[in-house]
Amino acid sequence: MADLTVFLNGEYLPLAEAKISVMDRGFLFGDGVYEVIPVYAGRIFRIEEHLRRLNNSLTDIRLDNPYTPQEWQAIFQPLLVSDKDQSLYLQITRGIAEKRDHAFPEKVTPTVLVMCTEVKPFEGKFTGIKAVTLDDTRWDLCHIKAITLLANILLRQEAIDEGCAEAILIKQGYVTEGAASNVFAVIDGVLMTPLNNGAILAGITRDVILELAAQNNIPFSEQVIALEALQQATEIWVTSSTREIVPVVELDGLKVGDGKPGPLFRRMDTLLQAEKQAA
Ligand SMILES: Cc1ncc(COP(=O)(O)O)c(C=O)c1O
Repeated sequence: MADLTVFLNGEYLPLAEAKISVMDRGFLFGDGVYEVIPVYAGRIFRIEEHLRRLNNSLTDIRLDNPYTPQEWQAIFQPLLVSDKDQSLYLQITRGIAEKRDHAFPEKVTPTVLVMCTEVKPFEGKFTGIKAVTLDDTRWDLCHIKAITLLANILLRQEAIDEGCAEAILIKQGYVTEGAASNVFAVIDGVLMTPLNNGAILAGITRDVILELAAQNNIPFSEQVIALEALQQATEIWVTSSTREIVPVVELDGLKVGDGKPGPLFRRMDTLLQAEKQAA
């Protein structure tokens, strides 16, 4: 990790030399957005979709995108290696202001950070994980991929403290998403996921799974899922770019299905691995 190179405001630097001012609004307010983009053997997966979501996040926080898609591609390239799977992390904050003030500063240059780390398959993917349902205590703008993640962090930690790997969040009786993932459930033989209605992040992995379901005649539905329906599911998955599809085999201390990763998970994971290869 020590010799990791990062891109910071136009320069490639060793991690230890990449420094920002304490007046950066990302540091003071969490005023910024981010993306996490998987890279398989040097090939960036679904880059257009990730850059489109980045654009949406920036628009929603009223910040201009500092780079074109081609410029982003060129920035990423030196950070990639062809023989490993990696994860690109990029973050843009509103930049460094002269004083700490909630109002947007005038004429300020955004801070841009990109780093890339090696990723190994998430272990829980093979065994399944335990999850706990928790009240979704986050704000109303969960469609923005904001760096302000305190609620998500507290929820994930509460899950970990209870011996679980993820928190599945419930808002007014309905499933929204995980603390850092989207949620799928197999209910009455149909693959269901909550609607993309602003209460969740529009996960790129979620979209890939819906696309694969459509292409392979797997019955699916984007719809509201009540907690009681989730408790009846024969399979539950949580999905994200870093962990891919992870089966939940225990929810709130009770077995999901037969307590093992289910058949539709295995099928979808095979389809996803093929999609990664083909990309
Ligand atoms: C809150 C939340 N929802 C959903 C996701 C999944 O999004 P993606 O599949 O684009 O990684 C993430 C990813 O980190 C997340 O933090």
